[in-house]
Amino acid sequence: MDSTFTLVSGNKIPVVGLGTWQAEKGVVGQAVKDAIELGYRHIDCAAIYGNEKEIGEAFKEVFAGDVKREDVFVTSKLWNTMHAPEKVEDALKKTLSDLGLEYLDLYLIHWPVHQNDDGSFLPYEAIPIGDTWKALEACVDKGLVRDIGVSNFSAKKVKQVLQGARIKPAMNQIERHAYLQQPKLLEYCLSEGIRVTAYSPLGSPGNSMYDFSEKAVIETEAIQKLAEKHNVTAAQVCIRWAIQSGTVTIPKSTKRHRIQENATVDFKLSDEDMKEIAALDKGHRYCDGSFWTKNEHYTLESLWEGTE
Ligand SMILES: NC(=O)c1ccc[n+]([C@@H]2O[C@H](COP(=O)([O-])OP(=O)(O)OC[C@H]3O[C@@H](n4cnc5c(N)ncnc54)[C@H](OP(=O)(O)O)[C@@H]3O)[C@@H](O)[C@H]2O)c1
Repeated sequence: MDSTFTLVSGNKIPVVGLGTWQAEKGVVGQAVKDAIELGYRHIDCAAIYGNEKEIGEAFKEVFAGDVKREDVFVTSKLWNTMHAPEKVEDALKKTLSDLGLEYLDLYLIHWPVHQNDDGSFLPYEAIPIGDTWKALEACVDKGLVRDIGVSNFSAKKVKQVLQGARIKPAMNQIERHAYLQQPKLLEYCLSEGIRVTAYSPLGSPGNSMYDFSEKAVIETEAIQKLAEKHNVTAAQVCIRWAIQSGTVTIPKSTKRHRIQENATVDFKLSDEDMKEIAALDKGHRYCDGSFWTKNEHYTLESLWEGTE
């Protein structure tokens, strides 16, 4: 539970964190408190999740006790409407104020998509990503955040960030599970010293925003058989697989018993087990980004181009 990966900066990130997307107001604060009490030292947040204030109240309570701010790795994400360089610091300061923190451990560009405040879209070229990146670097210089990175970026888009970067991206947070393994993108990021966080590691069962033309990953027979073999749950197999394949992962739950279950993954999958899971890959995205493509500026092809 206390194992970590080292980021390009030398800072360490705990391999399992608590996801907070769709963790409803009224329960998310308790989930964060439960997670930290149960040993989690990594919480994944985002401004767009709309629950950072309640998470901030939970942090305030927790950090008044034995666990200190510096013991917990906190990530948040810059929303699509805040990519203009002059808006970046304000967005980060709003998140810091909501979370009640003086600094973040990691701040990610949430999506490679630019929007106006009214939700309309700007072409990707309208705000050079290098300009947004420079504004993020300035936030590191000011001590507002320790590491910066991206999310949902293809290798092609990561390369664009790297071109003018003074501070290397520490992370690419991407959808990754047995049905969408993205081996080339993972290999590319690791070869550049960029860590990968796997989101939706369980296949986000029950998520009303995802297209469930495929079962959630934890419902897959092969995963359930492996769970039986190791006397663990299907969720634990998915999380163990993510860690063993070299990624950080951030399963979401607001249920205390599941929060505990998801972090109890100190068994080992054999090479044979890993091969069986590798064979499940079918390039299936649940979070396919189709909600960004109902306009003239973005298509699924342009969004994911250069991923493989
Ligand atoms: N960067 C991005 O664009 C992006 C996109 C998606 C997600 N994320 C991040 O990644 C996190 C995780 O992804 P996700 O929330 O999509 O999916 P997930 O973690 O794969 O699945 C979460 C769902 O699984 C249920 N669950 C949790 N533990 C379980 C267990 N042990 N057994 C059975 N069901 C279980 C949860 O319900 P209960 O809460 O009822 O337990 C919830 O419905 C998010 O919360 C967010 O922080 C980032």
